[in-house]
Amino acid sequence: MSRTVVITGATGFIGGMLVKRLASTGWHIRALVRAASLGKRSKNVEPEWVTGDLGDRASLKRLVAGADAIVHCAGAVRGASQEDFDRINVGGVARLAQVAAAQNPKPRFLLLSSLAAREPHLSFYAASKQNGEKALVSHSGNMFWGVFRPPAVYGPGDREMLPLFQWMFRGIAPLIGSDQNRLSLLYVGDLADAIISWLDNGKKSQRVYELHDGHQSGYSWQEIIDIVECLNGKSVFRANIPVSFVKLAASVNLMASRIFGGSPMLTPGKVRELVHANWVADNDQLSSETGWVPKVLLAEGLRQTFGPEI
Ligand SMILES: NC(=O)c1ccc[n+]([C@@H]2O[C@H](COP(=O)([O-])OP(=O)(O)OC[C@H]3O[C@@H](n4cnc5c(N)ncnc54)[C@H](OP(=O)(O)O)[C@@H]3O)[C@@H](O)[C@H]2O)c1
Repeated sequence: MSRTVVITGATGFIGGMLVKRLASTGWHIRALVRAASLGKRSKNVEPEWVTGDLGDRASLKRLVAGADAIVHCAGAVRGASQEDFDRINVGGVARLAQVAAAQNPKPRFLLLSSLAAREPHLSFYAASKQNGEKALVSHSGNMFWGVFRPPAVYGPGDREMLPLFQWMFRGIAPLIGSDQNRLSLLYVGDLADAIISWLDNGKKSQRVYELHDGHQSGYSWQEIIDIVECLNGKSVFRANIPVSFVKLAASVNLMASRIFGGSPMLTPGKVRELVHANWVADNDQLSSETGWVPKVLLAEGLRQTFGPEI
């Protein structure tokens, strides 16, 4: 009999890719979908859908009943206040972990956190991701769990990094912060494969893992621009935008969203994340434990994201 894995966030960027990749494995997939998002369900892959919400304990009980593993990808990546993020990234984790830990036998639980959890002082988002990890720890009892801390993830369907790459392919790189800053990246398909490796080979333990695309010590923005120039066959103009200007724009954007509603991406916290000097991750623990090796470096990832014509 096939084992059942529960996926949350399956209508999102990362969860959607995970469902697609899991479909060719032996796992039976059960996925949470919010009623308002039924239309976002993938047409090609048909998991067993459970309609519900992270705020609704009854739907979470139906979701996890009899599951062997849970991959919690649902999360808030935009918001105007700490409460906007905490409701989903902390409260949602706590509720799902409680319901999961009450199962007999208990499933294994993988939480998709973020490298941002390393620096909770930077933003509402970063704080909520670290507190989400703490919520998992405090509600899981002796349930086995893993926490993945991916760096910036990109690929088809991404809404965060893609606009920046699109500008670069048009010939302009709008950049803020120091030349010396370094960041790790991860192609979304490699992240999905890492999750599947954890499901298949991960130890029964309680552990936090960082991930990156195999490019040791991350990328500088100049290295990223060099890769885009090489793929595009033309030079990219580097437009250095003063941090003070971006901070001002972010403050206005945040204030406007508090007045008119909406979930802003550009906020003062996001700017602090963007100018942070070190977002370099380390793959060693995950690779040595599960055998997962990332396959897609940035040039190939951009080809897979934008198509062979670039
Ligand atoms: N993208 C990155 O670069 C990145 C990097 C590191 C970590 N992460 C983490 O990875 C996770 C997924 O990110 P993503 O980029 O795939 O985000 P996304 O595309 O915005 O997807 C978020 C998913 O969460 C679901 N969701 C939100 N609130 C929910 C609720 N109350 N109940 C049930 N489902 C809910 C959404 O459902 P609807 O479709 O109904 O809105 C959607 O399926 C997040 O936890 C994020 O913090 C992302």
